[in-house]
Amino acid sequence: MKTTSFKGRDFLAETDFTREEIETVLTVAEQLKKDRAMNNYHDQLLRSKTLFMIFYNQSLRTRNSFEAGMTQLGGHAHYLDPDKIYKPALEGREIAYTTERVSDVARVLDRMGDAIAIRCYGDPVDWEYGGAHAMLKEFARWADIPVLNMEDDIYHPFQGLADVLTVKDKFGGYKGVKFTMSWAYSPSVHKPRAVPQSAILYATMLGMDVTLAHPKGMELAPDIMEQCKTYADAAGGSFKYTDNFEEGVEGAHVVYPKAWCATPIFQAPVGENDPKKTKEIFDAHKDWKCTADTMKLAHKEAIYLHCLPADRGYEVSNEVMDKTSGPGWTSAIFDQAENRLHVQKAVMSLVMQ
Ligand code: CP
Repeated sequence: MKTTSFKGRDFLAETDFTREEIETVLTVAEQLKKDRAMNNYHDQLLRSKTLFMIFYNQSLRTRNSFEAGMTQLGGHAHYLDPDKIYKPALEGREIAYTTERVSDVARVLDRMGDAIAIRCYGDPVDWEYGGAHAMLKEFARWADIPVLNMEDDIYHPFQGLADVLTVKDKFGGYKGVKFTMSWAYSPSVHKPRAVPQSAILYATMLGMDVTLAHPKGMELAPDIMEQCKTYADAAGGSFKYTDNFEEGVEGAHVVYPKAWCATPIFQAPVGENDPKKTKEIFDAHKDWKCTADTMKLAHKEAIYLHCLPADRGYEVSNEVMDKTSGPGWTSAIFDQAENRLHVQKAVMSLVMQ
């Protein structure tokens, strides 16, 4: 277990940490989870420390798990609405007395607290793929304290950590686990790619047998696909793609169907910034929905995962969402949501010490 290298580091993407470091994070998360179950307080770990959280987008799970996590570790989290501060903006995108340059915001918060966490994707960066991640990197360039990614347009690294901790909780490890990340239909086309990209990165890094299923037009980023192949080869797992929903789910231990945006939603050069075309691609695939019949194709002890919020009746049936106990396949979505708390506390206690 690697224990010495975390202090002061940013966590903007799963690729920032090695597999050994990710395993350390998961081990620490399990310990903190056990402590909480036993009512053993660990509020000395980040006593008097402050986390600044800047949310450009809405959130239930991320905000509350970071905020509760900081309280449980003995510190405090500030919620910052970009419209109520001077909205942090990159050089060249500034508006007088409305925005403040990221380099200035980062250096001010750096003097007052112990980490900065940011969520930004989609509309705030006009669907320029990678624009939000570039802003997070600019924060990290200027702040000496850790910068944490609470979901940008490429990665949702804390969600992915919670996903794989849930797999470990249910199956005891990763070797031989068949993990299917699938697209599913939603009436909303404005869904970032970060969750599926982070999920398949971690699943391949940890050596699972990973299937990515989606209709044509919903491709994930080519560099993420390459990284997944590299991880799968290094870890002795596998990584394959199918455009057939049922084929993707067949025999899977983990069934993770959710909507993500189609390529045309992004600005050039990635897409054409065309929501109408995106909607047409979505509407041609309304049958990509997870029902009890879908789950019957999976392994008999399979778990259903979703990062939430899920679009009930579209991405997934109520029956699947709400079958949270056995026999047979079960929905693990609330265990998965709870695990956000434990993995975030683990990373914060390691990098903010
Ligand atoms: N899964 C997730 O990130 O949820 P929120 O959007 O509610 O934070």
